[in-house]
Amino acid sequence: MPEVKFLGHACVTITEGNHKLIIDPFLTDNPVAAAKADDIEAGYVLVTHGHGDHIGDAVSIAKRNDATVIGTFELVNLVGKEGVKTHPLHIGGGHNFDFGRVKATIAHHGGGYGPDASQYTGPPVGFLVTIGGKTIYHAGDTGLFYDMKLIGEMNDIDLAFVPIGDNFTMDPDDAIKAVEFLQPKKVVPIHYNTWDLIAQDAAAFAAKVKNAEVVILKPGEGCSV
Ligand code: NI
Ligand code: MN
Repeated sequence: MPEVKFLGHACVTITEGNHKLIIDPFLTDNPVAAAKADDIEAGYVLVTHGHGDHIGDAVSIAKRNDATVIGTFELVNLVGKEGVKTHPLHIGGGHNFDFGRVKATIAHHGGGYGPDASQYTGPPVGFLVTIGGKTIYHAGDTGLFYDMKLIGEMNDIDLAFVPIGDNFTMDPDDAIKAVEFLQPKKVVPIHYNTWDLIAQDAAAFAAKVKNAEVVILKPGEGCSV
């Protein structure tokens, strides 16, 4: 049974047996990071989009671990120039890896890299990760979209990471609707309380979600899927 751990902001790890994945490894310069990039062990580094608070330490973690970076074709071409192993995906496409499957889903957001996000890294995505017989959805940075209903209908989602921070992504009310659409068994709110701009009351969000178990993880905490 896979275990997930929240490392702050949108960064999570998924561990199943010997398989270690990290998604959106923004740790250096992350004021709420619960780990140091140099301490991360991972065989795969999944990156939803090029913004610094997601791509973060992807290259250094991948280099040190000889890990494979998974992201859009545009994003992995950019990080591939740093000499790391990569696997390109694109929206609607999935691939079977040794640990399970990753499928890229749409996300409505921006997708550039660099201080002003001007280096094109393709559209942002979310990920459906199937591992150890469980399906985990990381929405990435996105606004609410109605196709989440389709994602929920076509996938038996055991755990969903959804942003609730507002300003750059869904706010808690939109995230509640997202959870209605996705029908996950568990939901973990992310992308909030990293900075004042995205401060939110996760307990208030949890109290309003009716169709899933909300697991509020503090940075450094985890749960089974
Ligand atoms: Ni972003
Ligand atoms: Mn973000």
